[in-house]
Amino acid sequence: IPVQPFDYVVFGATGDLTKRKLIPALYHRFKDGQFDENSRIIGASRSKLSEADFRKTAREAIEQFVEKEYQDQAVIDRFIGIFTYVPVDASKPDESGDLGAALRDDPKVVRAFYLAVAPDLFEPIAEYLHSKKLYRRDARVVIEKPLGHDLESSKEINDGVSKIFQEDQVYRIDHYLGKETVQNLLALRFANTLFEPVWNSAHIDHVQLTVAESVGAGTRGYYDESGALRDMIQNHMLQLLCLVAMEPPASDEANALRDEKLKVLRALRPITNGEVAKNTVRGQYRGVKSETVSVAGYQDELPEDKKGSRTETFVAMKANIDNWRWAGVPFYLRTGKRMAERVSEICIQFKPIPHSIFDHAEGAPRPNKLIMRLQPNEGVKLMMMIKDPGPGGMRLREVPLNLSFAETFSERTPEAYERLLMDVIRGQQTLFMRRDELEAAWAWVDPIREAWDRSSEPPQSYTAGTWGPSGAVALIERDGRSWYEGPLS
Ligand code: BG6
Repeated sequence: IPVQPFDYVVFGATGDLTKRKLIPALYHRFKDGQFDENSRIIGASRSKLSEADFRKTAREAIEQFVEKEYQDQAVIDRFIGIFTYVPVDASKPDESGDLGAALRDDPKVVRAFYLAVAPDLFEPIAEYLHSKKLYRRDARVVIEKPLGHDLESSKEINDGVSKIFQEDQVYRIDHYLGKETVQNLLALRFANTLFEPVWNSAHIDHVQLTVAESVGAGTRGYYDESGALRDMIQNHMLQLLCLVAMEPPASDEANALRDEKLKVLRALRPITNGEVAKNTVRGQYRGVKSETVSVAGYQDELPEDKKGSRTETFVAMKANIDNWRWAGVPFYLRTGKRMAERVSEICIQFKPIPHSIFDHAEGAPRPNKLIMRLQPNEGVKLMMMIKDPGPGGMRLREVPLNLSFAETFSERTPEAYERLLMDVIRGQQTLFMRRDELEAAWAWVDPIREAWDRSSEPPQSYTAGTWGPSGAVALIERDGRSWYEGPLS
């Protein structure tokens, strides 16, 4: 079903995010017939491009970032036809083009501003829009990380935006919430009766969240300022944790769900001072050079003036949620660059059976595990014990009850941005972070960061292409547990 017609203004129209993610995502939605024919995409940036230049850039972005099998020239031509461009420099309104002339006053045309620019430009752009009378009470503004580097700076950014826009107009993207499998977690929990009764400390031993990437940190200057804690834990991983841990919301209405996530963030036990070394491990990858492989280490990738940086490219931590449901159930989180494989998954490990009648059987019963694979090879797996087939007596074996999405569904899995960009037009904020959530996440992360900054210990070194430093293994093994490392398929 097409969404309402819209004017989508993309600031930072010539930037990387626009080319890699936004234009391809919008293209797919257009191709699937989700746009009303009256919709427009308006690029805005400081570059003095013509409409034709911008259309050319958009076409190149599709050719480069949309899979070949979905590139349909007739569709691309029609899609490019809805693009226009206005040069805008919010700090020099007089030298800017007339954005107002590109927008329609019709209240039925949704007005959305996507600020794909550095956060220090959010406030000037918001003020520019207001001064040019382009602000409407029903307009939407989309912003995305880095939304600050700590609680204080994040407040400043939000204060800047909220001078003009009200909270119900602000769409803070955490693209993990747009991932199909992340939404599936909601379906799994709240569209089935099976799991919710056992989703608590009486039945669950612990939870593991892993977001491992095989790529390195690259040469993004941003990364060295940020590190894995700010880049992945503060946002994506805490959002995943919230969806696993929250109470069932009364509805899927945005604030119902966000209220529950906020309660989880507020119930996270603070990790401060002496607790930091006990409950967190940070690492940095070193290169590998052999006859067959050669991978640069993090330090080798840094420019001269950054060498010696202590930025972490890996974090493992143990978090506790101090509430009735999760008392005594640790959540182990780990994320890193240059790990052995690219894999993101959630593993719920249940408690052992209370009593075994299989003392004489081969193979002891192992606790059940529910594994949600976010990427790649999306799917859900329930690890169960069965009797090994055959006449040889009772031999117990752990086998997966396996739902592979690729094998079950033939549809293409949409990218996170496709869903999120359209939700903005639908006025649906459920999958966007509210300000108080963002701030609660920073408030929890800040003391960890501060303790690391004070510490004389550098991050532990790990070899590129492994599962991280030995400290991460020690962190979980100390509790008599181990990281789940199941096969990829
Ligand atoms: C981004 C981080 O938010 O998420 C990147 O800044 C990271 O460092 C990326 O690579 C991971 O996203 P995905 O969708 O590839 O898992």
